[in-house]
Amino acid sequence: MSYTLKSNGYLIEINELELSSFHDLMETNYATSRKIIIVDENTNEFCLEYLLTSFDFLREAEVILIPEGESSKVIDLCAQIWETWTDYQIDRKDVVLNLGGGIVSDIGGFTASIYKRGIDFINIPTSLLAMVDASIGGKTGVDLGKYKNQLGLFVDPKAVFIDPAFLQTLPIGEIYNGFAEMLKHGLIVHAKHWADLSSIKEVEKELTIEHIYTSLSIKNGIVLEDPFEGGLRKKLNFGHTIGHALEGHFVTKDPISHGYAVALGILAESFISFKKNFITLSELNEIENVLLSNYESIDLSNENLHEIYQLMLNDKKNEQQKILCVLLIGIGESVINQEITEQEILESLEYLNRLYLEEHKNV
Ligand SMILES: NC(=O)c1ccc[n+]([C@@H]2O[C@H](COP(=O)([O-])OP(=O)(O)OC[C@H]3O[C@@H](n4cnc5c(N)ncnc54)[C@H](O)[C@@H]3O)[C@@H](O)[C@H]2O)c1
Repeated sequence: MSYTLKSNGYLIEINELELSSFHDLMETNYATSRKIIIVDENTNEFCLEYLLTSFDFLREAEVILIPEGESSKVIDLCAQIWETWTDYQIDRKDVVLNLGGGIVSDIGGFTASIYKRGIDFINIPTSLLAMVDASIGGKTGVDLGKYKNQLGLFVDPKAVFIDPAFLQTLPIGEIYNGFAEMLKHGLIVHAKHWADLSSIKEVEKELTIEHIYTSLSIKNGIVLEDPFEGGLRKKLNFGHTIGHALEGHFVTKDPISHGYAVALGILAESFISFKKNFITLSELNEIENVLLSNYESIDLSNENLHEIYQLMLNDKKNEQQKILCVLLIGIGESVINQEITEQEILESLEYLNRLYLEEHKNV
């Protein structure tokens, strides 16, 4: 089964890479270009060989290996990449292939877009999160200290090729990271997708290519309507105001993954939606049940909640020093630009901690 979607002037294809139009695109547009493949330690080990052995035109490709993990998403690493490309005399006709998760596509898209005012890049996502989210939509960038994605550009890839076979080597925890973004897609605009995903008992066994396609279509549809996040696209940030702050808070202590942070953010922001009477208690309970059956609660007892709140003051969605957030107004319905107060945020963090204490009271 294969699917294609048209995005903002580029093609997204879900297919076995060898059967996809990847070969034709490379032959047509990049026959004489030098090819640069960016991988991290894991995609170097698990994914690169397939690419190199399946496509003759990649035999001479320059491989850029970056360390695995969010700590790579820094400007210093980008500078090293730019220096290497300069040493290799990479020019504007050359092309970058981002073979990896969201870290590789965020860094690869960003470095390619800045280098010599921009060279083409193609995303070949290998994590679930990158397949359903990070590889499409044109956001590229890196972090600045504790602030996620503080530096970046909107630049679209030339194509995105999604081969679900790459998921075979992805650790189960990473499957759940991507699943959090898929649940978000359902919650913000697509009640049926939420219901379908909610009925899954074991994500790693039951997730299908159709689930991936539906999530992609949701994100792609939103991005097409609002590519530069003037309005509608902000809905995709549901769970991310509090999620990013939690991710930033723990980054120098005991890092938590982006997907897990988003799952916690979904819980906290659903709680605020409930407190504002936007959703009912039974809707909150439904969300809680689904999220807690897939993700562990988090112990915030020893954390300075005010410090976590402070991190939200720099969120890109804020306007006029107000913290603006996406909230739910039902399952599958959401509303952007909702001001949330310090007290509401602190209460939602206390709620997360209460969930943890309730789960662990008999342990
Ligand atoms: N640009 C966007 O629109 C967008 C959207 C969502 C998230 N993001 C960003 O994406 C990042 C998270 O992405 P992620 O969850 O993919 O993280 P990631 O890139 O770190 O990948 C997760 C882990 O899986 C490993 N991995 C990836 N593919 C593998 C495979 N096939 N086999 C074995 N191991 C594999 C990676 O090496 C890494 O250890 C965050 O920095 C987040 O901010 C960007």
